[in-house]
Amino acid sequence: MTDHPPNTALAANKAADVTTVHVPLPGRAYDIHIGADLLTGAGTLIAPLLRRPRVAVITDETVGALHLSGLRAGLSQAGISASALTLPPGEATKSWGPLQQCVDWLLDQKIERGDLVIALGGGVIGDLVGFAAAILRRGVRFVQIPTSLLAQVDSSVGGKTGINAAQGKNLIGAFHQPSLVLADINVLGTLCRRDFLAGYGEVMKYGLLGDADFFEWLEHNGPALAAGDTSLRQEAVRRSVQMKADIVTRDETEQGERALLNLGHTFGHALEAATGYGDRLLHGEGVAIGCAMAFDLSARLGLCAQEDPSRVRAHLDTMGLHKGLANIPGTLPDAATLLTLMGQDKKVVDGQLRFILAHGIGQAFVASSVPETAILKTLAAG
Ligand code: GLY
Repeated sequence: MTDHPPNTALAANKAADVTTVHVPLPGRAYDIHIGADLLTGAGTLIAPLLRRPRVAVITDETVGALHLSGLRAGLSQAGISASALTLPPGEATKSWGPLQQCVDWLLDQKIERGDLVIALGGGVIGDLVGFAAAILRRGVRFVQIPTSLLAQVDSSVGGKTGINAAQGKNLIGAFHQPSLVLADINVLGTLCRRDFLAGYGEVMKYGLLGDADFFEWLEHNGPALAAGDTSLRQEAVRRSVQMKADIVTRDETEQGERALLNLGHTFGHALEAATGYGDRLLHGEGVAIGCAMAFDLSARLGLCAQEDPSRVRAHLDTMGLHKGLANIPGTLPDAATLLTLMGQDKKVVDGQLRFILAHGIGQAFVASSVPETAILKTLAAG
């Protein structure tokens, strides 16, 4: 598939102060537009990608009730008709049954290879619909319209698509880059505080892994951003997405550097597994605790200053975000069991767990042989 030319239709949205991050992957380059009211402008932005004026939208019940009619209106302003499939919300939707439902529905809608599928929702919908698009007719194009902060800054960008297996999360999938991402900052206003903060865990991750200035910016602006300041939100999404786009462009299929994006995830996934991947611990909350633990482990190993984990936890505390195991309701398995759960992580290579550790704030690296005793101490310290 050829690169699409820069979207002149964007001019129509300039009044709304849209910022654009370009992902220059050869042969599958795309833009990520970040700004207010992008749902309203969706038709103008999507029209240049279409061979015929129709799209298939897949969403979930929660997001659909809030945003599907706005998207339809935005599309119809550009003369684009949309059929829609609405799935149940929640992690259970990222599985074989709903995947089959998506693919069957898209075939029933007679979606052809030249057509476009739209994923309207959070990370679950984005991953599922992206994977359905990847396997339908050996690959149709899709547009991500992420509606959660987590999806805007992480899952909608970079082309990781897939579903969960009984054996673990995200174990079945494909790399399939979207053709366009529309991150509408206004939709973040419909998120409850807990969901917003969980997404913030991923925003903070970017500062911690590669940009100390951004982390410092978040220390100053995080509270106002969480309280609803839309220009700060737009800037936080832009900086996060720019960093992810740069990393994905250098290492699309995670042969090296892309693994840094998993900072906090090895601990986080074990905690999610221990708590049943549900409401007890949201993914971003697990990542927040995981980031604090990764810095704790780095300090224990003498890799970073003792102050660094304290600084990470202080920021999590200021934000009202989970900073340790004590924030997780209910009883957790012991440290040894949590360590076993980490062994299920898909980042295991040759039976060795790979951790993302840090030499300091903004200086993460991939470490493949970490002593188990230090990991157990970090887990036991909570
Ligand atoms: N969420 C990590 C990645 O996209 O690589």
